[in-house]
Amino acid sequence: MIGIFDSGIGGMTVARAVEQLLPGYPLIYFGDIARTPYGTKSPETIIDYSLRNTDFLLKKGASLIIIACNTASSVATDRLRQEFQVPIIEVVTPAAEKAITRTKTGRIGIIGTRATVKSDIYNRIITGRHPEFKVFSQACPLLVPLVEEGWINKRETKMIIRRYLHPLQTNQIDTLVLGCTHYPLLKELIQARIGRHVHLIDSSVEAARYLQKLLQEQPDLVQKSDEQSVEHTYYVSDLTDSAQHVAAEIFGRPMELHHV
Ligand code: DGL
Repeated sequence: MIGIFDSGIGGMTVARAVEQLLPGYPLIYFGDIARTPYGTKSPETIIDYSLRNTDFLLKKGASLIIIACNTASSVATDRLRQEFQVPIIEVVTPAAEKAITRTKTGRIGIIGTRATVKSDIYNRIITGRHPEFKVFSQACPLLVPLVEEGWINKRETKMIIRRYLHPLQTNQIDTLVLGCTHYPLLKELIQARIGRHVHLIDSSVEAARYLQKLLQEQPDLVQKSDEQSVEHTYYVSDLTDSAQHVAAEIFGRPMELHHV
């Protein structure tokens, strides 16, 4: 079974991409809504929560873990790989690699939570491989609560996006990484503001593609089941109206969320 966790509902954009690309694979998701957001917390706390989330998914039968949260991917991946023997996939490296192949000018923008930006992980991966590239990072702490409130198309959200993207426009980026799993829900607003000439990289989709490739190479990592009877189970640590609403928005169908 594929185990996926996030600090809340944003990681469902990864689960959706996995459902679409790998329909025959059973999946179990854990969204830590009770303790969200992770993006404002210390690395120690994020690591502690990530260890518990992984442990929960493994006890439920996962044989592979996707950290569907840029924040947890940025600070907890090494620790999870030390602690657990199963493959641990994070969302940062596939997105950084995609940005490297897409940029023509070598000027790449990153948007994410404060913790992701502070970790400097995207910059380290990208300039580690291409020292001549320039990476411009912008923390966008207000975007996660706006998505969680369902304020996807509000005037206020557009204004805040405009403010956050302004420095990246000034720096003339040609590629922008949506370095937070909540941001795909704001993709259209972000694209409209940054301009059509800027290529957006969705870390959720890139992580799902990475998993697809891995399973082609090593099919035994996850046992496939019949597409008709395949089970996708969604757990959350708190069950709120807004979580139900945003989950339905992400999947385009009513979602059954199990409270644990
Ligand atoms: N899902 C998190 C991420 O991708 C953002 C939400 C949070 O701060 O917990 O970084």
